[in-house]
Amino acid sequence: MVTTLSVRHTGGEYPVYIERGSHRSLMKFVTRHCGDRVPIIIADETVARLIPQDLSGIPRLTFPPGEASKTRLQWERVTDAMLDHGIGRDGAVIAFGGGVTGDLAGFVASTYHRGLPVLQVPTSLLAMIDASIGGKTAVDTPAGKNLVGTFHQPVAVVIDPMVLESLPAKEFRTGLSEAIKHALIADAELFAWLGTHASDILSPDPAHLEELVRRCVAVKAAVVEEDEREAGRRAVLNAGHTVAHAIEAQSEYAISHGEAVAIGLVLECRIAERMGLCETGTATRVAVLLEQFQLPVTIPPALTADALLARMKLDKKNRGGVIRCALVAGIGTMVGAGGGGWTQEVDLSLMRELLSLPR
Ligand code: GLY
Repeated sequence: MVTTLSVRHTGGEYPVYIERGSHRSLMKFVTRHCGDRVPIIIADETVARLIPQDLSGIPRLTFPPGEASKTRLQWERVTDAMLDHGIGRDGAVIAFGGGVTGDLAGFVASTYHRGLPVLQVPTSLLAMIDASIGGKTAVDTPAGKNLVGTFHQPVAVVIDPMVLESLPAKEFRTGLSEAIKHALIADAELFAWLGTHASDILSPDPAHLEELVRRCVAVKAAVVEEDEREAGRRAVLNAGHTVAHAIEAQSEYAISHGEAVAIGLVLECRIAERMGLCETGTATRVAVLLEQFQLPVTIPPALTADALLARMKLDKKNRGGVIRCALVAGIGTMVGAGGGGWTQEVDLSLMRELLSLPR
């Protein structure tokens, strides 16, 4: 089945193609969306080996894989390499890879000659259902994740769900926690469907993977269309992430984003329960679903509450020592949907108590 979703933004709209086998004929999409521009591919060294033959005529710039490459230094290296290649204002960037590549290549594209078009070609589940859609680009700094970045909408996103069938298990699971997050924040039916079809998705069954991607992209597209610049509702996409970013940074990224989001979702649901914002038992339902997908749900003992709280205070979403989270009102709905703000201040002593729970 071929699906094309359209994502509207202030500058227009762009298509998200969800098509099995589409990565084997990427040139068609490059021609359609980059026209006569001079394309250049940005990919990490591992994923670069998977660039289809179809794109062999396009020069590529590579960088070492992993979150550690999402830096200002790597932005400088890639940008300098583009200058060396003579890429001008008529260039176009093809971001081929996972979330790190999308963010880094997007940031390069948005700043190079004051902005080149970027075609997002996500190759991980996380990038397909979250990072490639909505135009966020960023690099990390020692003070935290995504602290330097831009909004730069892609000209198109080309998703090939077939790619997911050969992903390493850990990378696939990273995306699954974001899929569960999408369901939790906006789609109770999707939450139920994930529970019913966990084994089909994990097997992985192609038809279920495609449906998973389609349903999750629809959630993400609806949120970013409503609030392109995160002035309001888009903050719900950060559910679980206040805790998750602290866990990732404090573990020096030994705990992956997906694992950290899984733990963060459960903990932030417990916060919502304790604040009387959602029914008791919500956190357990979320934990049960995450465990069906073999994702962790408790903080590793080595990460202390004090260290995690200190990290949270550095997060760009938290100001003046105040910690804020986007909290659930129930499965498929967020507190902000009822009015009164999309994020809630969390009492520091409550956060400390829940971060200190026996592991
Ligand atoms: N990944 C969160 C967002 O796009 O807003």
